[in-house]
Amino acid sequence: MEVVIEKLDHFGRGITYINDKICFVDFALPEEIVDIKITKEKKKYLEGKIIKFIKTSDKRVESKCPYFKECGGCDLRHLIKEEQEIFKTEKVKEILSKFANLSSNKVKDIVSVNKDNYRNKVVFHVKDKKLGFYKRKSHDLIEIDYCLNLDDRINKLIPDLKKKVKKDNTKSIMVRVSNDNDDVIINRDDKEIISSIKDKKYLITKDDFFQVNKFLTEHLYDEVVKNIKRLNSKKVLDLYCGTGTIGIYVSDYVDSVVGVEKVSSSIKSANKNKELNKIDNIKFIEGSSEEVYPKLKEEFDTVICDPPRSGLEKRVIDTLKEMTPKNIIYISCDPVTLARDLKILKEIYDIEEITPFDMFENTYHVECICLLKLKNK
Ligand SMILES: C[S@@+](CC[C@H](N)C(=O)[O-])C[C@H]1O[C@@H](n2cnc3c(N)ncnc32)[C@H](O)[C@@H]1O
Repeated sequence: MEVVIEKLDHFGRGITYINDKICFVDFALPEEIVDIKITKEKKKYLEGKIIKFIKTSDKRVESKCPYFKECGGCDLRHLIKEEQEIFKTEKVKEILSKFANLSSNKVKDIVSVNKDNYRNKVVFHVKDKKLGFYKRKSHDLIEIDYCLNLDDRINKLIPDLKKKVKKDNTKSIMVRVSNDNDDVIINRDDKEIISSIKDKKYLITKDDFFQVNKFLTEHLYDEVVKNIKRLNSKKVLDLYCGTGTIGIYVSDYVDSVVGVEKVSSSIKSANKNKELNKIDNIKFIEGSSEEVYPKLKEEFDTVICDPPRSGLEKRVIDTLKEMTPKNIIYISCDPVTLARDLKILKEIYDIEEITPFDMFENTYHVECICLLKLKNK
Protein backbone atom coordinates (compact mmCIF):
# COMPACT_ATOMS: atom_id res chain seq x y z
CA MET A 1 0.00 0.00 0.00
CA GLU A 2 1.45 3.36 -1.01
CA VAL A 3 1.16 6.14 1.60
CA VAL A 4 2.43 9.66 2.21
CA ILE A 5 3.94 10.31 5.64
CA GLU A 6 2.46 13.45 7.20
CA LYS A 7 4.52 14.01 10.35
CA LEU A 8 6.37 12.34 13.20
CA ASP A 9 4.70 11.28 16.45
CA HIS A 10 6.36 11.93 19.82
CA PHE A 11 8.25 8.62 19.59
CA GLY A 12 9.77 9.56 16.21
CA ARG A 13 7.51 7.27 14.16
CA GLY A 14 6.08 8.41 10.85
CA ILE A 15 2.34 9.06 10.82
CA THR A 16 -0.02 8.48 7.90
CA TYR A 17 -3.79 7.95 7.70
CA ILE A 18 -5.49 5.02 6.02
CA ASN A 19 -9.25 5.42 5.66
CA ASP A 20 -9.06 8.08 8.40
CA LYS A 21 -7.35 5.66 10.77
CA ILE A 22 -3.94 6.66 12.12
CA CYS A 23 -1.08 4.42 11.04
CA PHE A 24 2.39 4.51 12.62
CA VAL A 25 5.33 3.65 10.37
CA ASP A 26 8.72 3.08 12.01
CA PHE A 27 11.66 4.98 10.43
CA ALA A 28 9.51 6.88 7.91
CA LEU A 29 9.95 10.64 7.63
CA PRO A 30 7.52 13.48 6.82
CA GLU A 31 6.76 13.96 3.09
CA GLU A 32 8.16 10.55 2.20
CA ILE A 33 6.11 8.32 -0.07
CA VAL A 34 6.49 4.69 0.94
CA ASP A 35 5.06 1.29 0.19
CA ILE A 36 4.05 -0.26 3.50
CA LYS A 37 2.79 -3.56 4.82
CA ILE A 38 0.32 -3.41 7.71
CA THR A 39 1.89 -5.27 10.65
CA LYS A 40 -0.69 -4.56 13.35
CA GLU A 41 -4.37 -3.73 13.16
CA LYS A 42 -6.03 -2.40 16.32
CA LYS A 43 -9.41 -0.73 16.84
CA LYS A 44 -7.89 2.75 17.10
CA TYR A 45 -4.67 2.52 15.12
CA LEU A 46 -2.58 0.61 12.59
CA GLU A 47 1.12 -0.11 12.42
CA GLY A 48 2.97 -0.42 9.14
CA LYS A 49 6.40 -1.46 7.98
CA ILE A 50 8.24 0.11 5.05
CA ILE A 51 8.60 -2.30 2.13
CA LYS A 52 9.87 0.17 -0.45
CA PHE A 53 10.67 3.88 -0.69
CA ILE A 54 8.94 5.69 -3.56
CA LYS A 55 10.21 9.14 -2.53
CA THR A 56 12.73 9.79 0.26
CA SER A 57 13.12 12.91 2.37
CA ASP A 58 16.14 15.19 2.00
CA LYS A 59 16.28 15.09 5.84
CA ARG A 60 17.10 11.37 5.72
CA VAL A 61 20.65 10.26 6.44
CA GLU A 62 22.36 6.88 6.17
CA SER A 63 22.85 5.63 9.74
CA LYS A 64 26.48 5.06 10.72
CA CYS A 65 25.37 2.32 13.12
CA PRO A 66 25.12 -1.21 11.67
CA TYR A 67 22.61 -2.23 14.40
CA PHE A 68 20.21 0.69 13.90
CA LYS A 69 16.54 -0.30 13.38
CA GLU A 70 17.08 -3.77 14.85
CA CYS A 71 18.56 -2.50 18.14
CA GLY A 72 16.12 -0.89 20.59
CA GLY A 73 18.58 1.83 21.66
CA CYS A 74 18.11 4.60 19.06
CA ASP A 75 15.02 5.91 17.29
CA LEU A 76 16.27 8.75 15.10
CA ARG A 77 19.60 7.80 13.48
CA HIS A 78 17.93 8.06 10.05
CA LEU A 79 17.22 11.78 10.60
CA ILE A 80 19.86 14.53 10.23
CA LYS A 81 20.89 16.06 13.57
CA GLU A 82 19.40 19.52 12.89
CA GLU A 83 16.04 17.89 12.23
CA GLN A 84 16.33 15.75 15.37
CA GLU A 85 16.65 19.01 17.27
CA ILE A 86 13.65 20.57 15.50
CA PHE A 87 11.64 17.39 16.18
CA LYS A 88 12.44 17.56 19.92
CA THR A 89 11.73 21.29 20.21
CA GLU A 90 8.39 20.89 18.41
CA LYS A 91 7.55 17.88 20.57
CA VAL A 92 8.08 19.93 23.76
CA LYS A 93 5.99 22.79 22.33
CA GLU A 94 3.14 20.47 21.30
CA ILE A 95 3.02 18.62 24.62
CA LEU A 96 3.12 21.79 26.70
CA SER A 97 0.44 23.38 24.55
CA LYS A 98 -1.80 20.29 24.56
CA PHE A 99 -1.56 19.36 28.26
CA ALA A 100 -0.76 22.69 29.94
CA ASN A 101 -2.12 25.21 27.44
CA LEU A 102 1.25 26.97 27.31
CA SER A 103 2.25 29.20 24.44
CA SER A 104 5.04 27.85 22.24
CA ASN A 105 6.99 31.11 22.54
CA LYS A 106 7.88 30.05 26.11
CA VAL A 107 10.07 27.30 24.64
CA LYS A 108 13.63 28.44 23.89
CA ASP A 109 16.11 26.99 21.40
CA ILE A 110 17.26 23.48 22.22
CA VAL A 111 20.78 23.13 23.67
CA SER A 112 22.79 20.38 22.02
CA VAL A 113 26.43 19.41 21.58
CA ASN A 114 25.82 17.08 18.65
CA LYS A 115 28.45 14.45 19.44
CA ASP A 116 28.57 10.66 19.33
CA ASN A 117 30.10 8.63 22.19
CA TYR A 118 28.32 10.79 24.78
CA ARG A 119 27.05 8.16 27.25
CA ASN A 120 29.05 7.51 30.42
CA LYS A 121 26.81 4.63 31.51
CA VAL A 122 25.27 1.55 29.90
CA VAL A 123 23.39 -1.60 30.87
CA PHE A 124 24.23 -4.50 28.56
CA HIS A 125 21.88 -7.46 28.51
CA VAL A 126 23.10 -11.04 28.37
CA LYS A 127 21.24 -13.96 26.81
CA ASP A 128 22.55 -17.40 25.85
CA LYS A 129 25.99 -16.15 26.95
CA LYS A 130 25.89 -13.35 24.38
CA LEU A 131 26.19 -9.65 25.26
CA GLY A 132 24.30 -6.81 23.64
CA PHE A 133 21.06 -4.83 23.74
CA TYR A 134 17.40 -5.78 23.49
CA LYS A 135 16.00 -5.62 19.99
CA ARG A 136 13.29 -3.08 19.26
CA LYS A 137 10.00 -3.90 21.00
CA SER A 138 11.30 -7.25 22.25
CA HIS A 139 13.45 -9.00 24.84
CA ASP A 140 15.42 -10.83 22.17
CA LEU A 141 19.07 -9.90 22.11
CA ILE A 142 21.12 -8.22 19.41
CA GLU A 143 24.79 -8.92 19.98
CA ILE A 144 26.99 -5.85 19.50
CA ASP A 145 30.71 -5.09 19.23
CA TYR A 146 30.42 -1.32 19.48
CA CYS A 147 27.82 1.35 20.25
CA LEU A 148 28.15 4.83 18.76
CA ASN A 149 26.38 6.41 21.75
CA LEU A 150 28.84 5.00 24.29
CA ASP A 151 32.01 6.57 25.61
CA ASP A 152 34.80 4.72 23.84
CA ARG A 153 36.28 3.58 27.14
CA ILE A 154 33.12 1.48 27.56
CA ASN A 155 33.36 0.22 23.95
CA LYS A 156 36.93 -0.94 24.59
CA LEU A 157 35.70 -3.12 27.47
CA ILE A 158 33.24 -5.04 25.29
CA PRO A 159 35.62 -7.84 24.11
CA ASP A 160 36.56 -8.66 27.73
CA LEU A 161 32.95 -8.47 28.87
CA LYS A 162 31.99 -10.91 26.11
CA LYS A 163 34.59 -13.37 27.39
CA LYS A 164 33.35 -12.89 30.95
CA VAL A 165 29.70 -13.67 30.16
CA LYS A 166 30.72 -16.89 28.39
CA LYS A 167 32.02 -18.15 31.74
CA ASP A 168 29.22 -17.21 34.16
CA ASN A 169 25.47 -16.75 34.40
CA THR A 170 25.34 -12.96 34.43
CA LYS A 171 22.01 -11.59 33.13
CA SER A 172 23.10 -7.98 32.71
CA ILE A 173 26.21 -5.85 33.09
CA MET A 174 26.17 -2.21 34.11
CA VAL A 175 29.23 -0.16 33.19
CA ARG A 176 29.77 3.43 34.25
CA VAL A 177 32.90 5.48 33.54
CA SER A 178 34.05 8.76 35.01
CA ASN A 179 33.60 11.84 32.81
CA ASP A 180 37.25 12.78 33.15
CA ASN A 181 39.48 10.03 34.58
CA ASP A 182 40.01 6.25 34.30
CA ASP A 183 37.61 5.31 37.11
CA VAL A 184 35.12 2.65 36.09
CA ILE A 185 32.33 0.64 37.73
CA ILE A 186 31.62 -2.74 36.14
CA ASN A 187 28.62 -4.85 37.00
CA ARG A 188 27.80 -3.32 40.34
CA ASP A 189 30.57 -5.00 42.29
CA ASP A 190 33.25 -2.27 42.22
CA LYS A 191 33.01 0.53 44.61
CA GLU A 192 32.76 4.07 43.74
CA ILE A 193 34.04 6.34 40.98
CA ILE A 194 34.76 10.08 40.91
CA SER A 195 33.44 12.15 38.02
CA SER A 196 33.80 15.89 37.43
CA ILE A 197 31.42 18.49 36.11
CA LYS A 198 33.51 21.63 35.52
CA ASP A 199 35.34 22.42 38.79
CA LYS A 200 33.13 20.19 40.98
CA LYS A 201 33.94 16.56 41.74
CA TYR A 202 31.34 13.94 42.45
CA LEU A 203 31.76 10.56 44.01
CA ILE A 204 29.11 8.17 42.70
CA THR A 205 28.37 4.54 43.51
CA LYS A 206 26.62 1.78 41.60
CA ASP A 207 23.11 2.77 42.76
CA ASP A 208 23.33 6.54 42.41
CA PHE A 209 21.71 8.60 39.69
CA PHE A 210 24.18 10.60 37.60
CA GLN A 211 23.45 12.38 34.31
CA VAL A 212 24.60 10.14 31.43
CA ASN A 213 25.58 12.75 28.82
CA LYS A 214 29.20 13.56 29.65
CA PHE A 215 29.28 16.57 27.29
CA LEU A 216 25.98 18.29 28.00
CA THR A 217 25.52 17.98 31.77
CA GLU A 218 27.64 21.06 32.51
CA HIS A 219 25.48 23.09 30.10
CA LEU A 220 22.35 21.84 31.88
CA TYR A 221 23.74 22.78 35.28
CA ASP A 222 25.09 26.11 33.95
CA GLU A 223 21.53 26.96 32.95
CA VAL A 224 20.46 26.34 36.56
CA VAL A 225 23.30 28.59 37.76
CA LYS A 226 22.31 31.28 35.23
CA ASN A 227 18.80 31.29 36.69
CA ILE A 228 20.02 31.20 40.29
CA LYS A 229 22.17 34.30 39.62
CA ARG A 230 19.47 36.07 37.66
CA LEU A 231 16.95 35.48 40.45
CA ASN A 232 19.45 36.55 43.09
CA SER A 233 18.60 33.37 45.00
CA LYS A 234 19.87 33.08 48.56
CA LYS A 235 18.17 30.09 50.17
CA VAL A 236 17.77 27.10 47.89
CA LEU A 237 15.97 23.78 48.34
CA ASP A 238 17.22 21.02 46.00
CA LEU A 239 14.49 18.36 45.90
CA TYR A 240 15.38 14.94 44.38
CA CYS A 241 19.04 15.90 44.85
CA GLY A 242 20.68 12.51 44.12
CA THR A 243 24.37 12.75 45.07
CA GLY A 244 24.02 16.50 45.64
CA THR A 245 25.17 17.35 42.12
CA ILE A 246 23.06 20.44 41.41
CA GLY A 247 23.02 21.79 44.98
CA ILE A 248 26.81 21.60 45.14
CA TYR A 249 27.10 23.15 41.65
CA VAL A 250 25.05 26.22 42.71
CA SER A 251 26.40 26.48 46.27
CA ASP A 252 29.06 29.08 45.31
CA TYR A 253 26.36 31.56 44.33
CA VAL A 254 23.90 31.31 47.26
CA ASP A 255 23.86 31.56 51.07
CA SER A 256 22.62 28.04 51.76
CA VAL A 257 21.28 24.88 50.14
CA VAL A 258 19.25 21.99 51.56
CA GLY A 259 19.14 18.79 49.47
CA VAL A 260 16.50 16.06 49.84
CA GLU A 261 16.90 12.55 48.45
CA LYS A 262 15.23 9.25 49.26
CA VAL A 263 17.98 6.79 48.27
CA SER A 264 20.19 6.20 51.27
CA SER A 265 23.40 5.45 49.32
CA SER A 266 22.95 8.69 47.35
CA ILE A 267 22.68 10.72 50.55
CA LYS A 268 25.89 9.08 51.76
CA SER A 269 27.55 10.03 48.46
CA ALA A 270 26.10 13.56 48.71
CA ASN A 271 27.69 14.03 52.14
CA LYS A 272 31.02 12.74 50.83
CA ASN A 273 30.69 15.15 47.87
CA LYS A 274 30.14 18.03 50.27
CA GLU A 275 33.51 17.12 51.90
CA LEU A 276 35.22 16.45 48.57
CA ASN A 277 34.34 19.94 47.31
CA LYS A 278 34.95 21.57 50.72
CA ILE A 279 31.48 23.11 50.85
CA ASP A 280 30.03 24.22 54.15
CA ASN A 281 26.75 25.92 53.18
CA ILE A 282 24.87 22.75 52.16
CA LYS A 283 23.10 20.04 54.15
CA PHE A 284 21.35 16.89 52.99
CA ILE A 285 18.24 15.22 54.35
CA GLU A 286 17.43 11.58 53.64
CA GLY A 287 13.77 10.94 52.84
CA SER A 288 11.20 11.35 50.12
CA SER A 289 10.44 14.88 48.94
CA GLU A 290 6.74 14.38 49.68
CA GLU A 291 7.50 13.40 53.31
CA VAL A 292 10.31 15.84 54.02
CA TYR A 293 9.27 19.07 52.26
CA PRO A 294 5.95 19.58 54.10
CA LYS A 295 7.79 19.28 57.42
CA LEU A 296 10.61 21.72 56.65
CA LYS A 297 10.34 24.81 58.80
CA GLU A 298 12.76 26.96 56.74
CA GLU A 299 11.63 29.24 53.95
CA PHE A 300 13.37 28.99 50.57
CA ASP A 301 13.31 31.62 47.85
CA THR A 302 14.12 29.05 45.16
CA VAL A 303 13.17 25.38 44.96
CA ILE A 304 14.95 23.19 42.42
CA CYS A 305 12.98 20.06 41.49
CA ASP A 306 14.63 17.30 39.44
CA PRO A 307 12.23 14.35 39.79
CA PRO A 308 12.28 11.01 37.94
CA ARG A 309 10.14 10.55 34.79
CA SER A 310 7.00 10.24 36.93
CA GLY A 311 7.24 13.94 37.83
CA LEU A 312 6.24 15.60 41.12
CA GLU A 313 4.13 13.78 43.68
CA LYS A 314 0.85 15.53 44.52
CA ARG A 315 2.06 16.29 48.06
CA VAL A 316 5.11 18.08 46.67
CA ILE A 317 2.91 20.22 44.41
CA ASP A 318 0.53 20.92 47.31
CA THR A 319 3.46 21.98 49.47
CA LEU A 320 4.86 24.24 46.75
CA LYS A 321 1.43 25.88 46.51
CA GLU A 322 1.27 26.29 50.26
CA MET A 323 4.85 27.49 50.83
CA THR A 324 4.90 29.63 47.66
CA PRO A 325 8.68 29.92 47.12
CA LYS A 326 9.37 32.91 44.83
CA ASN A 327 10.98 30.73 42.16
CA ILE A 328 10.93 27.12 41.04
CA ILE A 329 13.50 25.62 38.69
CA TYR A 330 11.98 22.39 37.39
CA ILE A 331 14.26 19.94 35.54
CA SER A 332 12.36 17.21 33.74
CA CYS A 333 13.18 14.24 31.53
CA ASP A 334 9.54 13.73 30.49
CA PRO A 335 7.64 16.64 28.90
CA VAL A 336 4.30 14.89 29.53
CA THR A 337 4.63 14.80 33.32
CA LEU A 338 6.24 18.25 33.22
CA ALA A 339 3.14 19.57 31.40
CA ARG A 340 0.83 17.83 33.89
CA ASP A 341 2.61 19.51 36.82
CA LEU A 342 2.90 22.93 35.14
CA LYS A 343 -0.83 22.93 34.46
CA ILE A 344 -1.40 22.95 38.23
CA LEU A 345 1.51 25.18 39.20
CA LYS A 346 0.63 27.84 36.65
CA GLU A 347 -2.43 28.72 38.75
CA ILE A 348 -0.04 30.65 40.99
CA TYR A 349 3.23 30.71 39.00
CA ASP A 350 4.16 32.41 35.74
CA ILE A 351 5.92 29.94 33.48
CA GLU A 352 8.78 32.15 32.34
CA GLU A 353 10.66 29.88 29.95
CA ILE A 354 11.38 26.27 29.09
CA THR A 355 14.75 25.26 27.62
CA PRO A 356 15.02 21.80 26.01
CA PHE A 357 18.35 19.94 26.22
CA ASP A 358 19.28 17.15 23.79
CA MET A 359 20.71 14.91 26.51
CA PHE A 360 19.83 11.66 24.72
CA GLU A 361 20.88 12.18 21.11
CA ASN A 362 19.46 9.80 18.48
CA THR A 363 16.57 8.81 20.76
CA TYR A 364 13.17 10.49 21.01
CA HIS A 365 13.88 11.54 24.62
CA VAL A 366 14.39 15.17 25.64
CA GLU A 367 15.27 16.92 28.91
CA CYS A 368 13.90 20.37 29.84
CA ILE A 369 14.60 23.10 32.37
CA CYS A 370 11.62 25.23 33.25
CA LEU A 371 11.73 28.48 35.21
CA LEU A 372 8.64 29.43 37.23
CA LYS A 373 8.12 32.72 39.07
CA LEU A 374 5.46 33.35 41.70
CA LYS A 375 2.71 35.59 40.32
CA ASN A 376 2.31 39.02 41.86
CA LYS A 377 -0.72 38.93 44.14
C1 LIG B 1 16.46 12.60 37.86
S1 LIG B 1 17.35 12.14 39.29
C2 LIG B 1 18.11 13.67 39.73
C3 LIG B 1 19.28 13.58 40.66
C4 LIG B 1 20.14 14.83 40.77
N1 LIG B 1 19.36 16.03 40.84
C5 LIG B 1 21.15 14.90 39.64
O1 LIG B 1 20.95 15.69 38.69
O2 LIG B 1 22.15 14.18 39.68
C6 LIG B 1 16.03 11.93 40.43
C7 LIG B 1 16.48 11.59 41.84
O3 LIG B 1 15.31 11.56 42.68
C8 LIG B 1 15.40 10.47 43.58
N2 LIG B 1 14.02 10.21 43.99
C9 LIG B 1 13.07 9.49 43.34
N3 LIG B 1 11.89 9.61 43.98
C10 LIG B 1 12.10 10.44 45.02
C11 LIG B 1 11.25 10.98 46.04
N4 LIG B 1 9.96 10.66 46.09
N5 LIG B 1 11.80 11.83 46.94
C12 LIG B 1 13.11 12.16 46.89
N6 LIG B 1 13.97 11.66 45.97
C13 LIG B 1 13.46 10.83 45.05
C14 LIG B 1 16.11 9.40 42.78
O4 LIG B 1 16.70 8.46 43.65
C15 LIG B 1 17.13 10.23 41.99
O5 LIG B 1 18.32 10.37 42.73
